[in-house]
Amino acid sequence: MRNLNEVTITQAVTASLAGCEDARLRGVVMKLVEHLHAFARETKLTEAEWAKAIAFLTAVGHITDDKRQEFILLSDVLGLSTLVVAQSHAKPEGCTEATVFGPFYVADSPQYAQFDDIANGARGEPCFVGGQVRSLDGEPVAHASIEVWQADEEGHYDVQVPEADGTVTHRARGRLHTDADGRFAFRSILAEPYPIPHDGPVGKLLEALGRHPWRPAHLHFMIEAPGFETLITHVFRDGDRYLDSDVVFGVRSTLVAQWVRHEPGTAPDGSPVDVPFYTLDYDFVLNRAAAAVPA
Ligand code: BEZ
Ligand code: FE
Repeated sequence: MRNLNEVTITQAVTASLAGCEDARLRGVVMKLVEHLHAFARETKLTEAEWAKAIAFLTAVGHITDDKRQEFILLSDVLGLSTLVVAQSHAKPEGCTEATVFGPFYVADSPQYAQFDDIANGARGEPCFVGGQVRSLDGEPVAHASIEVWQADEEGHYDVQVPEADGTVTHRARGRLHTDADGRFAFRSILAEPYPIPHDGPVGKLLEALGRHPWRPAHLHFMIEAPGFETLITHVFRDGDRYLDSDVVFGVRSTLVAQWVRHEPGTAPDGSPVDVPFYTLDYDFVLNRAAAAVPA
């Protein structure tokens, strides 16, 4: 293994993996090396360019912490997240499609009951959301867990705007359960388009590439129920100007829905609302989990 040149180097590296006992790891790293080397040859990558790329990845690492996940952003804006989601969630037609997770999910979302206001003080126009969770054969999915999270009218998620003491008050996110008929309803605020965080290296990359950082207005959902595949998805607001240029390539036509505007009056939960408000009705169809293979 001496005197390697720009052709023989690839085979030398892949051969060095022969002792790896984890077949999947070996296979994935082998392909990674082959594709990286092919990329460097095809682009005739220079030393200066590679140094610049290393500096970029170093900056991505430096800005990443438990609140800011620049690596997810990078994967998202390069379309890799959408590719991995799409190839991991092939489902029968009629099931609700999955889309990217994004970096703003939190696991300890507050619990709510039906018709509660999950905004918890987040600023935005009132919006009443309701629908049903069903299986592909039309059966309601009772007691499914629904987690929802969204940005406020300024385009910020709660985790992006900590209190003065550094703690986060959870706003415009929460978890509730479907009722015995698979139905759910909650109050929140109107989803608005917002730019992904673009004050870091990924933002600089977008700018250099002549791309904007905007996402079309959407609500995030994670729906879980025993016997069904977990669904991680969004519902997008019809008419949004960024539907065809989402910076993270997450839009699917089946996930675009109408938010209906109403004059002040009585909300779907029977409460009076003295300002204009919106309603969104959207049903989700879950895919049954593959039968567990007996050990
Ligand atoms: C989001 O929708 O929350 C999101 C997704 C990808 C990157 C940034 C934000
Ligand atoms: Fe989002």
